[in-house]
Order: sequence, then C-alpha cells, then structure tokens
Amino acid sequence: CGIVGYVGPQPALEVVVDGLSRLEYRGYDSAGVAVLADGKLDTEKRSGKLANLMTALEETPRSSDGIGIGHTRWATHGPPTDTNAHPHTDGDRRVAVIHNGIIENFATLRMELEERGCVFASQTDTEVTAHLLSEEMKNRGDDDLAGAMRTVCQRLKGAFTLVVMDTANPELIVGARRNSPLVVGRGEGENFLASDVAAFIAHTRNAVELGQDQVVELRRDSVTITDYDGNPADVREYYVDWDASAAEKGGYDYFMLKEIVEQPQALSDTLLGRVTTDGTLTLDEMRISPAELRELEKIVVIASGTSYHAGMIAKYAIEHWCRIPCEVEVASEFRYRDPILNRQTMVIAISQSGESMDTLMAVRHAREQRARVLAICNVNGSTIPRESDGVLYTHAGPEVGVAATKTFLTQLAACYLVGLYLAQARDLKYGDEIRAVVEQLASMPEYVERVIGTVDRVRDLARSLAEASTVLFLGRHVGYPVALEGALKLKELAYIHAEAFTAGELKHGPIALIEDGLPVVVVAPSREGRGVLHDKIVSNIQEIRARGARTIVVAEEGDEVIRPFADEIVEVPSVPTLLQPVVATVPLQVFACELALAKGNNVDKPRNLAKSVTVE
Ligand code: G6P
Repeated sequence: CGIVGYVGPQPALEVVVDGLSRLEYRGYDSAGVAVLADGKLDTEKRSGKLANLMTALEETPRSSDGIGIGHTRWATHGPPTDTNAHPHTDGDRRVAVIHNGIIENFATLRMELEERGCVFASQTDTEVTAHLLSEEMKNRGDDDLAGAMRTVCQRLKGAFTLVVMDTANPELIVGARRNSPLVVGRGEGENFLASDVAAFIAHTRNAVELGQDQVVELRRDSVTITDYDGNPADVREYYVDWDASAAEKGGYDYFMLKEIVEQPQALSDTLLGRVTTDGTLTLDEMRISPAELRELEKIVVIASGTSYHAGMIAKYAIEHWCRIPCEVEVASEFRYRDPILNRQTMVIAISQSGESMDTLMAVRHAREQRARVLAICNVNGSTIPRESDGVLYTHAGPEVGVAATKTFLTQLAACYLVGLYLAQARDLKYGDEIRAVVEQLASMPEYVERVIGTVDRVRDLARSLAEASTVLFLGRHVGYPVALEGALKLKELAYIHAEAFTAGELKHGPIALIEDGLPVVVVAPSREGRGVLHDKIVSNIQEIRARGARTIVVAEEGDEVIRPFADEIVEVPSVPTLLQPVVATVPLQVFACELALAKGNNVDKPRNLAKSVTVE
C-alpha cells in the first residue's frame, strides 16, 4: 500500500493526491484521502484506479486546510470496495486512519469494541484503530493523539504502519511504524510522511526513516519521534539523491532487483497470523472447514508458468505430510484430458495475478465437476479467488517485474501452510515432524535474508557466463522444480536456451548434450536427504564433469562432500528438504537477473511476455 501525509502551508489535497500519483507504480485496488476543511474532516475514497478518486474529487469542488493524508490500498482484509478503501474513521468522525499491513488481533478488538457499542462501517482490520484511538482520547479526557497512538499500538498485534489525523489537532499528523516502512520528508515550514520517498521528493530530499516500533508527531515546524513509551528514539536521517524513477524502485535500477530483496518481508507477511508460536496453524480465511478437509480423497494442483513450479513443490510436501494423493498439472492442459474429479477432490489453483485465463478455465471446469477449489493468489478480489470456494492470499505486495520472484516464494509459503494445515486437520501421526517444520517455516524469512546477503558471488559468476548460449539445470526431488524455475528465469530474462532435467534422467538422453565448457547448474539436495539423494547427485555431477561440463552447484552450507566436484559452489542455509526450494531459488533468480543485465536486457519487461496472460 502507499501512504502520504502532509502538514504545511500548501493546499493539502493537491499535495496528497500528487504524492499518491507518485506511488502509482506500486499498483493498488483503491485509493482515498482525508483532509481538514474549515476544521471538519472531509474524506473521499474510491475503489479502482487513482483516476476514479480524482474524478470524484473534481465532481465536488472542495477546499482543504494545510493538513491531509492519503492512501492507495492493496486489499488484505475485505474486498476492494469504496467502503473498505482507506481512510477509516471512528463513529464521531473525528479521527481518520490509514494503514499498511495486517492487524492480527483485529477480530478480538472488533468484538470488544462492538460490545461497547461501536458501529463498524467496513470489513477492514484498519477500522478498529480509528475507534480505539477515539475511545482512548475520550477515556483520558484529553486530545493527546500521539499519547493515544502509543497506547493503542501496544495493543495491536501483527504488522502495521499507521498514519492518523484528528479534528481536535488541526496541525498534527501522527504516524506509527511496525514492519512496513515509513519515512518523514523534512521541508521548510512543511513536513511530509510517506511509505517511500518517491511520494515527496518533488518537495524535499531530506528524509528521516522511522525505526521499528516508533511514533512520529509531524507539525509544520517540527518532527518528534519516540518509541511506544514516549522516550526519544534513534532515527536515520539521510539525503535522497535519486531521481524520481529510481526512487520508485527504492534506489534500484529495476523493480525486479527490489522485489528479490523484498522476499524476506514478503514471506514474513504471508506467514503472519497463520503460524502460531505453539506450532499450530490458523487458516480460517480458507473457507474450507476441517471437516471437509478430512473427507478429501485427492488433491489436484493447477497453475501456469512459475506458479506451476510452486505447485510441483506442493505435491512433494502434501503427499509427504498428508498422505493424500496429489497431482499437478499445467492449467492449459487440465480440462482437455477429462480429469477425474468429484466432491472429494480439492483443486488448488495457484496464480499470482488471479487472472491467468488458462488457470481460470481450469478452475471453472473443476467446479463444474463438483470439486472444491482453493485459490492461492496475490491479488485480492481478482477473478480466480472470486470464482473459487476458498482462498489463501499471499501477501507479497504488488509485483511489478514481469518475471515472478517474491510472488513465487510466497506461493511456496502458502502451499506449505495448506499442506501443514491439512495434516493438522486430518490429525496425522506425524505431529512432532509437523511442529518442527512449522517452526522452521517461521524462520524462512531470516534464511532468505542470509542468502540475499551472500549473492554477490552469484552476480560475478553470472557476468562471467554472459556469452553462454545454453545453460542446463539439474535437480532431484524438490530440487527438480527449483531447477525448472532457474531455467525458466534464464529463458525469460536473458533469452538464453536453458533446460532443466531430473538428474536421474540425464543418462537416458540429455547427457548427449554435455560438451566441453557447457555450464550446468545443479541443485543439490539438503543434508537430510543425503543418504540416498545426495550420493546420487554426487555421481551425476561426476558423470557430467567427466564430459567437460562446468558445474555450478547450489548446496547446503558446510557440504564438504560435494565441494570437490563443483567448479563453482553457491551455498544456501541448511533447512529441511521440503523447505529447501525457498532458499535454493533465490540465487537462481539473482543469477538469471544479473546475466540478463550483463546482456543489456530490461529485466522488468522481458520481450514477448506479460505479467498476466488473459488469453488461452
Ligand atoms: C505469465 C507470467 C509468468 C507467470 C504466469 C502465470 O506467463 O509472465 O511470470 O508465472 O503468467 O501467472 P499467474 O498470475 O497465473 O501466476
């Protein structure tokens, strides 16, 4: 989501709407603003593009004092409608709130507030904060908005960045940050607040980044930042020397580079509120009851492109954890082979956009055959989730780069969640194993962060291979879909002929392709699988090396057995086998991206490809 706040001498409405238009690149499904006009709160919000909001604002000409906030929404709780768009207000319409993130305990808070007589206007998690702030000021008998914010923040669980204004404080904006970024723009006699600097660099380049769990009070001439207890806080001040287009990309040259780096955050947002500390899972939003899950006899995963690779990995996880037969098929083939489906089949449709026509047609076919359909999707309110029985949203945020990166990693997280939840619902004997995996899953964002910290070597390696005309990828078990994804990324971005094989299949044909100097990327299984798979892959590497291949091996940290057989080694943290794709895919994304850049390609917009393909 995009956030903008302004306090200063200019008409706030114009500054805020202009700021929102500079955040448009993030993509969103609704937008809204709140300003004070003659001391009264005036809000306007619309679903759809910013242009819809602008038209609405033009229809009723209005003035604004020098204070306002604005928001572009990427829906999480509640579909993208006018009502669910931000800002949200309390019953007295004194407080207006905008929010990024997810308030995990909103259902409990909402219930408490309703018991005390609060009437809610929307289905969002955000609205509880407007009511809580208003109630807090009433209880205190003062108008201390910042004090109320500090108290309310301590009651909220989850990830949130909040920006609020209040009619009793006509020259004050208060912001609070946990997780999603919030940056102050310091001007002369005016100040700005935004989710990223792109929103205000037309006005000022002096920025102050809020840290975790900090609250900012923004007035025309002052910026005060404290922690949730009111103690002065340490902040990072910096000067933004990027141009407007680099600012959109967080200082990176391409969205894709930014999106690769955002993966730890995307993963933790997707796991948030779903994995509890005691090792159990809550996926109530899935809308398929545990009783229904217990009746299932078969699972079929359908998807296209990168999402299909996530589906392949889901099969390994679901069959192992749940002992339910699981098929995976590319969506474009599915309905033409007359698949066997019934009420005891659950079809999982994976699509980041929720709009791929192939996948949508497969979903419709599955529903006609009375299968239950669960969508895994990144775009709230898109067609596939709307036409499915249930949905599990990934919370990767908008992905601009055409080639999927952070949506893929979050699809994996969602598939694991579904698998583990199914195992939990079906009460399998593997209780201990499941709990251990849930724990590891919760640590995946940190592991991915570690991988991202070590990819410079992969970049050098990629640049050294810019002249290659073919690259082969090998894997076994879950390493095979990772190899497929690595090859797909290289085709998409670098326009290099790349193919993936299961390492065991090599000897049945593909080995004839190996010649002197041919780069072969091998995804080695994790130590857990060392007994069988690991030994086998070591032999496979020897076979291709003997025939002249240049081997680039993605292996677990500390894997000394494989090292002598690798011309280049790329280490990833040691994690349970089924989760390994999360860490092993990241270097391959970087590899493809860097190789494409070395060839001078635009990695955000690869030739002939579209972000979502709405034809069959
Ligand atoms: C297009 C994109 C791919 C994507 C595929 C499936 O071909 O270029 O990156 O993986 O569609 O998209 P979906 O939105 O259904 O996941």
